[in-house]
Amino acid sequence: MPVKRIFLIVLDSFGIGNAPDAEAFGDKGADTLRSVSGSDFFNIPNLTALGLPLIEGADCAVFENSEKISSELCKKGLKGSAVCRLVEKSKGKDTTIGHWEIAGIVSEKPLPVYPEGFSDDVIEEFSRRTGRKVLCNKPYSGTEVIKDYGEEHVKTGALIVYTSADSVFQIAAHEDVVPVEKLYEYCEIAREMLVGENSVGRVIARPFEGEHPYKRTSRRHDYSLEPPEKTVLDMISEQGKSVISVGKIKDIFAGKGITEAVPTSGNADGMEKALQYAKKDFEGLCFINLVDFDSSYGHRNDIDGYAKAISEFDRWLPELFDAIGDEDVVMITADHGCDPGFPGTDHTRECVPFIMFGGEINCSGKRPYVLDLGTKQGFDNIAATVAELLDVKYDCDGNSLTESVLLKKARDAADNAYAPYSGFNVGAAALGADGKIYTGCNVENASYGATVCAERVAVSKAVSDGRRAIKAIAVVGGKNGDFGSECAPCGICRQFLAEFCEEPEELKVLLTSSDGNDEIKRYSLSELLPKGFGKKNLN
Ligand code: THU
Repeated sequence: MPVKRIFLIVLDSFGIGNAPDAEAFGDKGADTLRSVSGSDFFNIPNLTALGLPLIEGADCAVFENSEKISSELCKKGLKGSAVCRLVEKSKGKDTTIGHWEIAGIVSEKPLPVYPEGFSDDVIEEFSRRTGRKVLCNKPYSGTEVIKDYGEEHVKTGALIVYTSADSVFQIAAHEDVVPVEKLYEYCEIAREMLVGENSVGRVIARPFEGEHPYKRTSRRHDYSLEPPEKTVLDMISEQGKSVISVGKIKDIFAGKGITEAVPTSGNADGMEKALQYAKKDFEGLCFINLVDFDSSYGHRNDIDGYAKAISEFDRWLPELFDAIGDEDVVMITADHGCDPGFPGTDHTRECVPFIMFGGEINCSGKRPYVLDLGTKQGFDNIAATVAELLDVKYDCDGNSLTESVLLKKARDAADNAYAPYSGFNVGAAALGADGKIYTGCNVENASYGATVCAERVAVSKAVSDGRRAIKAIAVVGGKNGDFGSECAPCGICRQFLAEFCEEPEELKVLLTSSDGNDEIKRYSLSELLPKGFGKKNLN
């Protein structure tokens, strides 16, 4: 069965440390998971069962009862999970850049920040186009800025422009001085201006009212930067499938590629809304951002609060398990770190976890229930995986992690090889058109000619299960435990594969020359067996 729905959950700022370039960001040693796991309130049995502590570099305790929970999950129909550590490629550690990379866009530069305020050019042009002078123009707290500049604004009509540690251009104005609609117009002018070098992440309208010390009103409005290129969200919606935003996702993508959106008031509300969608019928992606981890706990250095929030998420997971069906896949990840135990209150450059389960993703690898895919470069592997699972074409730099799942399963199968004569162990994993994976290893015989290859064992298992076509096969092999070079299928296996595919051009053969499966080589069967003899010749 193909995948019908993907629930992609971003635990905002839930990093797992160890970014190779952390030092360049001033974040050496930052590790959100490690800090949070030190709290007495940290209790994540379900995430443990799904393999979080097994991820490379993840520094947190393994909960004792997780094996039991894993087996209970399997009784509910879950076939295990795949996990890996993702390293961010983009040169930034903010929400927008992290989410854009998850959706397929790698940013060479961070979004610009303005610790000294905006340049004279920007302010002059903004003044000229709005016909109003500008006050402040520096980083400021939103409540302080109206206290300190509000009276002058009311007296002169000049706009209060300020920024923060984030990439924002904020405009505060009293609703009686500048009607909200007019303020929104000014924001649109700023948004139009702030491109290229000055492409700030967000322009924000900050209306306020009353008498000094003034109060901010609820009519805040954000104008996000549009992603510079198409994301996987655009491709999914262009194919007529749903892309549902829960929480601030819609804002992060400036609405691009989103077909439906619900705002949330925080984590609890976000989880509730995600659950409502899990109970509805749709086809496509439900993209969820749980913001409290970052905004309420990470930035406020509240370790216990963060630990309680992640434990609450963990307690909610079984409800999600109950709500999803056989054709659904869940992915859990993060967009950057915000270590509450690290000096300062800013985001921290960290790797993020990736956990995937559901559907026919059968991950019961050697470690029961959890298939550990190691470390992968780029959050954009998620975009590639989403595209592949939803059967949507999307070109990005990332690799589908389902390919890694296939290679990893082939590698694990090689450990079962019966190769006492050659000492050459081979493992294969064939992906059926239904999404099921069939593994095989080579089985040798004292009468050498009776030996069968790993690929033919895997494909024969699929055929004997009623499958007649496979979409892809991963092959891993090596002598005496060395899996460091490619092991391409032999001639007989190529011929065998030709029998059980829709089109030789479309059967993907995945090989790797590294034991860690990081480097993936892709061939079509027609490349490996040009002008092959097949069923067609007999017709
Ligand atoms: N082998 C495979 O399993 N697949 C291939 O495509 C090439 C060879 C096995 C057969 C034998 O057990 C060992 O590798 C050495 O030839």
